[in-house]
Amino acid sequence: MTSRFYVTTPIYYINDVPHLGTAYTTIAADVLTRYHRLRGEEAFFLTGTDEHGLKIERSAQEAKADVRSFAARMSEPFRQTWPQLACQYDYFVRTTDADHEKRVGEIWEKIKAKGDLYLGSYEGWYCVNCEAYYTEKELEPGGVCPIHKKPAERIVEPSYFFRLAAYSDRLLSLYEKNPSFVAPTSRLNEVKSFVRGGLEDLSLSRTTFSWGVPVPGDPKHVMYVWFDALFSYLTPMLVTPERRSFWPANVHLIGKDILRFHAVYWPAFLLSAGMTEKELPKQIFAHGFLTFNGQKMSKTLRNTVKPLELAQAFGVDTIRYYLMRAIAFGQDGDFDVNDLVGRYNADLGNALGNLLNRVLKQVEKQTSGGTMPVGKREELDLALEGELAAAAQSAAEAFDAVQPHRALEAIWQVVAATNQYIDRAAPWAAIKRGDMARAGTILHTAMEVLEAISVMIAPVMPSSADSVRTQLGLPKLTPTGGRDGWPFTRPQRPEGLRLGAAAPLFPRIEPDRQKELLQSLGLSAPEPEPKKEQPAAPPGAPRVTYDDFAKLDLRVGVVVSAERVAGKDKLLSLRVDIGEAEPRPIVAGLALSFRPEELVGVRVVVIANLEPRSFGKNLVSHGMLLATGASEALTLVTAGPAAQAGAKIK
Ligand code: MSP
Repeated sequence: MTSRFYVTTPIYYINDVPHLGTAYTTIAADVLTRYHRLRGEEAFFLTGTDEHGLKIERSAQEAKADVRSFAARMSEPFRQTWPQLACQYDYFVRTTDADHEKRVGEIWEKIKAKGDLYLGSYEGWYCVNCEAYYTEKELEPGGVCPIHKKPAERIVEPSYFFRLAAYSDRLLSLYEKNPSFVAPTSRLNEVKSFVRGGLEDLSLSRTTFSWGVPVPGDPKHVMYVWFDALFSYLTPMLVTPERRSFWPANVHLIGKDILRFHAVYWPAFLLSAGMTEKELPKQIFAHGFLTFNGQKMSKTLRNTVKPLELAQAFGVDTIRYYLMRAIAFGQDGDFDVNDLVGRYNADLGNALGNLLNRVLKQVEKQTSGGTMPVGKREELDLALEGELAAAAQSAAEAFDAVQPHRALEAIWQVVAATNQYIDRAAPWAAIKRGDMARAGTILHTAMEVLEAISVMIAPVMPSSADSVRTQLGLPKLTPTGGRDGWPFTRPQRPEGLRLGAAAPLFPRIEPDRQKELLQSLGLSAPEPEPKKEQPAAPPGAPRVTYDDFAKLDLRVGVVVSAERVAGKDKLLSLRVDIGEAEPRPIVAGLALSFRPEELVGVRVVVIANLEPRSFGKNLVSHGMLLATGASEALTLVTAGPAAQAGAKIK
């Protein structure tokens, strides 16, 4: 049987609208689904809405609406928003679905028959916003909920209790035996210490409101909303044998705020309902929280920053790329719109878009409508093939480990390597000397690597992947169940395959456009760079003769690699191809203005005959780049795309 992958998002409360935080989880779930499909697995992606409970009942009352129709109305934006962010869920569950309610009732009876429920009376604290019980100890001074900072409510009422305390040992042994049950590890440690601290039985029903699934045989009670909601991961999967085959879930993606419900209550409920340890979900992955332009996502901010508006301004794939690349999955992170534009221009435009463009332009030139000869691969071509295989392996491992940011990092290493490959292999030079087979081989190799890149970016950027493919003359990707389509080896491109129509992939966002886009989103534009005093040319600088000038060996250089220098904040250690056998080691004070990866592939101007300068142990610079501006706002003097590495500047 083809292996199966089942992923879920939290089932979102409907008193809110889809926002950047919930979009983040949903996009991550979609990325994993698409990735696993490409690997030949059958994948199933479930999301939905959590519609019961006191919080929703009160929201409906505030809106003066009948709660059932309020729920139907408020659920709809979720159903509609996700596909517009290219999130193709396979099933959208609503906790008010009749089938779900019926099945949760049956599960309740099973748990009761097991002897895990008893009728008692609950007296304690409850935060309606969390829909969670708190002990006095857990509340902050003034009886305030630690998450929402609002006073918790005192509840005294009859309640069915779940014998959670009786599950402590089984839970602890589950975490011991299966440490990846909760990820990242820091979260597992939190959960363990919570359970070790002693579990109390859990109040599982309420009588003071009625908006919930009625308790079988005792309809004065409605079930605790989290009991009903957690089972919505399971109930839709029970309806057909095909769906059943997806259970247990491979990963429940959640935010760190709802870890306890998923890592403690949920496995205990499932064990109580008769599941074996093997039938429990394989992993609960808790990601971090997002801030937006450095601000906490308060309810007001959540309502202003609409994911669809962001996607409209910058493109769906850009938003998906940024969320998956800029924020380490599992850590808190900031969604910074200006950083997004920076990454768009650098990673998407300069690195990937430019690579495609350069290769296709050369192919057009070389073939001018005809076919292209392809010869034997040389060392340089095989080295690129090696880079691709290594990146495909690391990217797959990263996606498997729910680390999309690492996967993208690995993929962009091949993008950079392919840009360098084109610089070094210089197909234009082969054309010039009439070696058409060599030029054809280089371009063929580059197109094959681009094809592999189109596959690897597809989980995150499905429409850009298709656009790359169309331009390469390839069909859209259609994952085939049972066939691993991941490019562990370089794809084989048939000779003579025609290119599709060219289209710019990621046109550069210039500062004026950036300002416009930000304003259209109601955001303030980036502060204009403070005008730095530019040191004026010394008055009366002595004239030089042309011969003096000609003493300078100024050349076009292509940055091959760039790294930070430990302990030196301002310095980057570069290797720059200036047309010599080996790239030149150059140490430059660029670190306050550029990220190292931004520089790779940039065509700079180098003074090649400057005396070497030492910057400390083993750190000698054999040249200098030309630049202007203050050290934290430098602009590099660059050469146009036609200039080749090593070309003399005269
Ligand atoms: N209904 C419950 C979940 C039940 S699951 C059986 C719930 N819903 S929620 O609408 O409040 O969604 C919470 C989830 O939204 C978080 O766990 C997280 O996935 C996401 N986020 C909400 N705000 C967020 C950020 N600012 N940043 C990242 N994710 C955030 O809890």
